[in-house]
This record gives sequence, structure tokens and C-alpha cells, in this order.
Amino acid sequence: MSPPFQASPLRAIRGRPLQGRFRPPGDKSISHRAFIFGLLTCGQTMVEGLLEGDDVLRTGAACKALGAAIERLGPGRWRIRGPGLGALVAPRETLDFGNAGTGSRLMMGVVGSHGITATFDGDASLRKRPMGRILDPLRLMGAEVLSQGEGGRCPIVLRGVRDPAPILYRTPVASAQIKSAVLLAGLNARGVTSVVETQASRDHTEKMLAHFGAEVTVTTEGEGRRIDLVGRPELIPRPVIVPADPSSAAFPIVAALIVPGSDILVEGVMMNPLRTGLLTTLLEMGADIGVVDRRTEGGEQVADLRVRASALRGVDVPPARAPSMIDEYPVLAVAAAFASGTTRMRGLHELRVKESDRLAAVAAGLSAAGVSYAIEADDLIVEGVGSARGGGLVATHMDHRIAMSFLVMGLASREPIAVDDVGMIATSFPEFRPAMERLGATFE
Ligand code: S3P
Repeated sequence: MSPPFQASPLRAIRGRPLQGRFRPPGDKSISHRAFIFGLLTCGQTMVEGLLEGDDVLRTGAACKALGAAIERLGPGRWRIRGPGLGALVAPRETLDFGNAGTGSRLMMGVVGSHGITATFDGDASLRKRPMGRILDPLRLMGAEVLSQGEGGRCPIVLRGVRDPAPILYRTPVASAQIKSAVLLAGLNARGVTSVVETQASRDHTEKMLAHFGAEVTVTTEGEGRRIDLVGRPELIPRPVIVPADPSSAAFPIVAALIVPGSDILVEGVMMNPLRTGLLTTLLEMGADIGVVDRRTEGGEQVADLRVRASALRGVDVPPARAPSMIDEYPVLAVAAAFASGTTRMRGLHELRVKESDRLAAVAAGLSAAGVSYAIEADDLIVEGVGSARGGGLVATHMDHRIAMSFLVMGLASREPIAVDDVGMIATSFPEFRPAMERLGATFE
């Protein structure tokens, strides 16, 4: 298990308007997958714009333990030399994923479909997260769980199968992590592995499978999708260019909307339609966000976003939008507090199993900052009054997005807001503090 982070608190203080331009770090989802595809492809995979956050680096370390040679050539520039599909080696030590749900779950798909055994573990947050949702389909393919923590959680010893059975799997919840684990396992199965999801989740794995030369077909089925993958392809090394992470961009965007007088340009943000739920919602709330210079980078649509402080209004966010903004609800709750009127965010059950129980953590933070809210079943209802009192100390529960969300709130609330630990911010957005300070934010 990872050693606990030394808690380091931080306070955000209302100050001057945010101004200037900046590019958020590389997308976390694509960065994890870049290492994994590099491992599974025989030859040299070059990556540019990789997110060098702790979560991703741990996936890189796990890929190394399974036989990849990985080198950092410069900031965000990495070279991976993979042994290739079917040629992985058994790791000698526990694969420690720290805080990273995505890394651990996707790598379970990789290990589960090879004739190797590995132990998966992480920090106290990861040890609380459900893994049965990944292990269930892997068992159907022939993998075996040799031991597991309470309730099927980490630490988990997984014995993979050399010749996994292709399956058709219907994901029980809209989750790109479940879908991706099954597809990555299906890569080493003879025959066609299919995943059916009733709501479309982020499609980075499917896109990267195609990019690396696998035969993958995506069929739209109502609001959902069916993905069919032909196993045992010859993966071809391809460069990966990682666009800026919309989930990290969310923090300066909301900060600029709620700090009066702000006007910033957030550059190179990925506009994949399965990731733009927050943008859609903020525009519905009346946000002044200009989408400038739409272009394609590394196979993804990207754009620069000009964001100006705005008078927001409360809206109703439908449950169908949740997969496209699943990581953005904490910071949307902050925007909602500064809006006029009620914002109802529906269907948030998956927030309970993220890096923390995000529904409970957001509620506690709103309460510490004097914001009125209610939780009704899986819905979060925030009563916005155009401003927030602030004050108080917010417990982050080892969750980077809770820490960043309430620091953003403190930049606009009447009293400063402190969070109990910012250590976890390094998992996804190591440059958060200096980047926000360059835009004019005040922390102490
Ligand atoms: C991710 C999928 C999402 C998201 C996570 C990254 C991915 O999780 O919350 O931060 O890269 O596949 P779920 O698929 O479990 O919703």
C-alpha cells in the first residue's frame, strides 16, 4: 500500500480578477492509455503532451513492471518500447497504483488476459473503491482472483489467463473503465469481444484501438453503443498526441466565471463530445464562454475557450448527461452556488464511488461554506444566491477534485476557504497552484 501523503492544507482568498492564458495539462484518460497501448504494441510508441501526474506515472511504472522500456525525453515527451500483446512478463512486486482508479482497473484487463499473476494495490482511497465491476467480466474470460481485500477491493491478486475467452459484456453502469478493461482483455482473446453500454461513456479506448490498427466497430444503439473488437491484432506503433484535459480545464473555467471581472483564455482543450457535458451545462447557465479556433489535434477536436466572468442562473442537469461530465460535478456545484436560483444535478449515484464519496464530500464542503443544498436520492440540489459566504475548512478525503473545487470557490467567496490537503492535486494537475497563481489567484 502507498505511504499516506503528508497532509498539506491551503487557503484560497478572494482577490483580483483572473486574467491571461494558459494550457491545462494533458488529458489523464488518454495519458494512462498511451502507456498501456505502448506496452501492448511491439516497437516504439512516442507520446507528446503526456500528463505527468502521479496517477499516470504509476500506470507507467506498472507497464515497466510488465516488460515495457519507458523513457522521458522531455516535458510531456515519452518513448515506450513495448514487448507487445502476449509477451508481457509477470511483475516481481506489487503494482502500486496509489490513488489511480483508472490505471488499476485498465491494467486489470491487461493482466487478466495474459498468463501472468499480479498484485494490485493502492492508497487508502483506492482500497475503498469497488473492483468487482472489473473482476466480474474478467472471470467470465477465465481470469482468477486468488485473493482480495474486504468486499472484493484492493489488495487483489489476479491470475490472468493465457488464452482468454471472448465475451459479449453488457456494462451494468455507464463506465469507460469497465468498458476499457474488457476491451483491453479482449485484445488478447481469439475472436470478437463485444461490449454493450446503455449510455455512451468516453470513447478514448475505442479510438486508440483503431489508431493502433485494431479492427474495432462502434455501433450506436439508442443513447448507448455496442463495440466489437477482433482479438489478437497486430498492433502498429503510432504517435500519441495528448490534448489538454477538459476535466482539469474545468477549474480555471469555473474560477473565471465566478471571480468578478475575470477574462481568461484556456488553450487546446479537448472537445470530444463525450467529455463536454460541463461546457454544455455552463452555457445553459448563461456562462460567457467563447469557443475559439476549433481544430483537430492527435485525432481529437480541440479548441481554445475564452471565459469571462458571468451572471449564472440555476439549471436542471439531466441524468443522461452524467457520463460526459462525471468528474466535473464537484466544480459544477461550486458554479451553482454562485448562480441565481436552483441547480438540480440528477442521477449522481456513480459519484459515491470515485476517489471519495463525492456526493457526501461536496455536500460537506457546501455546508462548510454556508451554501444551501439538499440531497434527494441520487440528486444534488444547490440553492444559488449569486455569492457564497465561504469560510470553514473543507475535508478533501484524498480527492484531488474536491480539493481543487473548493479552492476555486474560495477565490470568489466573501471569506477564504481552506482545504485540509492539497497533496492529491498532484495526481491529475501538478501545476494547479502555480498555473492559477499566474492567472491572478491568491492562495496561502
Ligand atoms: C475514466 C473514466 C471515468 C472517470 C475517470 C476516468 C477513464 O470513470 O471518472 O476519472 O479514463 O476511463 P468511470 O468510467 O468509472 O465512470
